[in-house]
Amino acid sequence: MRLFVAFDIPESLKRSIEKGLQRLRTALPEARWIPRNNWHATLKFLGEVPDDQLPKVEAAVSSSLADLPPITSHLTEMGAFPTVDKARVLWVGLWDDSGALAGLAASLDKGLGALGFRQDSRPLHPHITVARIKLPLPVGQLFEQAGPYDFDESPFAVSQATLYRSRLNRMGAEYQALSSFPAKGVPSER
Ligand code: 2AM
Repeated sequence: MRLFVAFDIPESLKRSIEKGLQRLRTALPEARWIPRNNWHATLKFLGEVPDDQLPKVEAAVSSSLADLPPITSHLTEMGAFPTVDKARVLWVGLWDDSGALAGLAASLDKGLGALGFRQDSRPLHPHITVARIKLPLPVGQLFEQAGPYDFDESPFAVSQATLYRSRLNRMGAEYQALSSFPAKGVPSER
């Protein structure tokens, strides 16, 4: 099964993203816009994992996140991977002043690295992917024309991380939450 670890953002912020993106969506109908139920911020992508490895993976994620401190993050700006001149992925950025999200990703990387998962060479760039584009497209001008985005930049607590299963189909991906790992002192939401 295809697995990844991510955290979710509050509904109120998702609404502000949806509102902020209206003009860009109209300007870019050829992009595949991801439904808001699928929005998340990935901390670690594991890829295909044999089903019988799931308990080991859950245990490793759990111990890597055992000291998950309550983290505060906020939305930032629109961006694109790999670059705005050759965009394939459009995203809304996330920020945390303390760099704790990168610390979390590093801890997962290390814990899962011990099980043989490839460690990420690039530092975490926390983001929510909102659209994918088949052929690389320059989007700098569009970004400017379709702005300002006015995302709600109020801080929110990253209260838990979730191990998701991803099933790919013709319509895109379907994500199933398998287990959640609450931050210290925060009751689990699932
Ligand atoms: P993305 O949003 O930046 O594309 C499920 O596919 C999640 O895992 C997505 O959020 C995706 O990040 C992330 N991910 C990271 N590396 C990936 C890879 N090599 N293939 C697919 N998804 C990946």
